[in-house]
Amino acid sequence: MSPDRVILIGFMGSGKSTVGRILADRLGWELADTDALIEERAGAPIPRIFREQGEPAFRAMESQVLAAVADRRRSVIATGGGAPAHPPNRTFFTRGDAVFHLRVSLKAARERTGENADRPLLAQDPESVRRLYQGRQSVYEELGQSVDTDGKTPDDVADEVMRLLRNPRRNYSPEGNV
Ligand code: S3P
Repeated sequence: MSPDRVILIGFMGSGKSTVGRILADRLGWELADTDALIEERAGAPIPRIFREQGEPAFRAMESQVLAAVADRRRSVIATGGGAPAHPPNRTFFTRGDAVFHLRVSLKAARERTGENADRPLLAQDPESVRRLYQGRQSVYEELGQSVDTDGKTPDDVADEVMRLLRNPRRNYSPEGNV
């Protein structure tokens, strides 16, 4: 069964939005970038949402946006790095869609995200970021088929996702995931 949706998960800096754009273009599908949709709804950039309303308010908006895009067909959905780790969102990731974990080492994630100005959770001290990273890896691995991104271009990563879509290791159907 071919999937109606491709969902990308992974830590900040794994390339979800960039690879999502490439995949959507190649498939001729829509791209739903949940961070961008949250900013649109809130009328504010993510750092301001965190600063003025706090992370719980951001997570609530994120869950609402996931619910809003959950039934879109022919869509690539690039999700924020924390979405799979937030338990209320679990069913979104386990409904049988094609979920890919863009795996990135912490070192490469730090290099790619640079100064972190638009990612409040990367502005914490390095040890807290390391703990956040480590705590999330098992969730990403469980929910998605992993594709390595270190040392690869977004086009390389998109190639690998397309290859996996053509030769699925999982059955993309409601009972197919985890
Ligand atoms: C977050 C990741 C960000 C964004 C927010 C929180 C996280 O998205 O949703 O800053 O908890 O990891 P990206 O993974 O697209 O950077």
